[in-house]
Amino acid sequence: MSFESPLTLGIETSCDDTACAVVDRTGQVLASVVSSQLSQHRPYGGVVPEIASREHLCNWPMVSSEALGAAGVDWSDFGAVAATRGPGLVGSLLVGLSLGRAIAWGLSLPFHGIHHIEGHLFSPFLSVDGQPATPVPENFDGLVVSGGHTSLLEVRRGEVCSLIETRDDAMGETFDKVGKRLGLEYPQGPKVDQLAELGDPEGFRPTIPRIKEDLFFSYSGLKTQALRAIEHLEKTTGLDVSRIRSGEDELPEAALDLLAGFRRAAVGQIMSRLESRHKSHPFQTLAVSGGVAANRLLRRELTQWAERLGIDLRLVPLKFSGDNAAMIAFAALERIKRGVPADPSDVVVASRIPFANASQ
Ligand code: KG4
Ligand code: ZN
Repeated sequence: MSFESPLTLGIETSCDDTACAVVDRTGQVLASVVSSQLSQHRPYGGVVPEIASREHLCNWPMVSSEALGAAGVDWSDFGAVAATRGPGLVGSLLVGLSLGRAIAWGLSLPFHGIHHIEGHLFSPFLSVDGQPATPVPENFDGLVVSGGHTSLLEVRRGEVCSLIETRDDAMGETFDKVGKRLGLEYPQGPKVDQLAELGDPEGFRPTIPRIKEDLFFSYSGLKTQALRAIEHLEKTTGLDVSRIRSGEDELPEAALDLLAGFRRAAVGQIMSRLESRHKSHPFQTLAVSGGVAANRLLRRELTQWAERLGIDLRLVPLKFSGDNAAMIAFAALERIKRGVPADPSDVVVASRIPFANASQ
C-alpha cells in the first residue's frame, strides 16, 4: 500500500476497547485494529474498570503488531504519536497514554494527548476505502452521540466550542440501561435499535418536556418513563421480561412497541435541538459521530432532514462510529495542520476534561 509519510500512530484505550491505528499525512487509514473486551465484561452487564485496564495491557502487544503488520510499516515510518488523554476510565486511559508517551520518547517523536470527543468529532471525514480523508471544513457543527456523551459542538476556524451537552444521562447510556432492564446483553444499544425496528412507536408515547431555549439534552426522564412502562408491562402480562435473554423471539409485541416509542423519542430530542440550532445559527455542514451514530432511525431522520434543508451531512462511516484509534490519529493530524504544538512529555490523563481546554 502506498502512503504519504510521515505516519501518525493512534492509540485509544479510554474504555473497554484496545485500539491502535496507522494514519498517513493525508488522513488515509492504513490500518485500524480494535480489540474488543466484551466477553470479559458481559457477565457483569457493563464495563468493570479494573478488568478493562488489565486487558488493555495484555492486548496491546498483539493489537499494535497487527496494526503495523496490516499497514505494512515499521516503527521508523512514524512522525508522530497520539493517544486519548481523556475523558474516560482513568486506569484504562493511563495504559494508552503511558504507552504513547513511551513510544514517542523512545522514537524521539512529538506526542499528542487527544480529547476523546475531539477524536469522534472529526471522524466523519475519514474514508473507509483506503482513500485520503475528506478535507475538514474550517467551519461546521458536530453532533457526538455515544455511551458517555451527547454533545452539540461548533467548530469555527478550527477552534472547537461546546454548544449543548446532556445534563444527565448520555443517549447511548440510556439505550443501554433500558436494554439491560429487558435482559439484553451489554452493549444493549445496538440490540435495542434492532428490536425497535420491529415495533410500532405509537404503542409507547412518552411525555416530552418542553425545554425552553433548548439549552441542554436530557435523557434521564425518558429513561425513567421507559423503565416504568416496562414495569407496567410486566404487571399487566405477568411476564418477567428481564429473564428473557434471547431477544426478539420471546419479547412480547408490546415490548417491541415500547422500544420503538422509546427510540423515536430519543432521536426526536436530537432532531428538535438540531432544528432550533439551525434556525438560530444556520450551518452548512453537520458532522455526526460516536457509537449512537450507528442508530438506524437517527441516520434515516438526519438524512431526510439534511436533504430537506440542503445541509451537507457527514455521517461517520459505521466502521469508525464506535471507539477506534484512527479517529485519535486523525484528530492529532488536524492539530498538527493547525500548528498546535505537541504536548510536553509529562502530560497526564484526566477522567474529565472540559472541551475549552482540549485543543490548547
Ligand atoms: O462511541 P462509543 O463506542 O463509546 C463511547 O465513547 O461511549 O459508543 C458506545 C455507545 C454504547 O452506549 C452503545 O450501546 C451505543 O453507543 N450504540 C448504539 C447503537 N450502536 C452503539 N445506541 C443506539 N443504537 C445503536 N445502533
Ligand atoms: Zn467514544
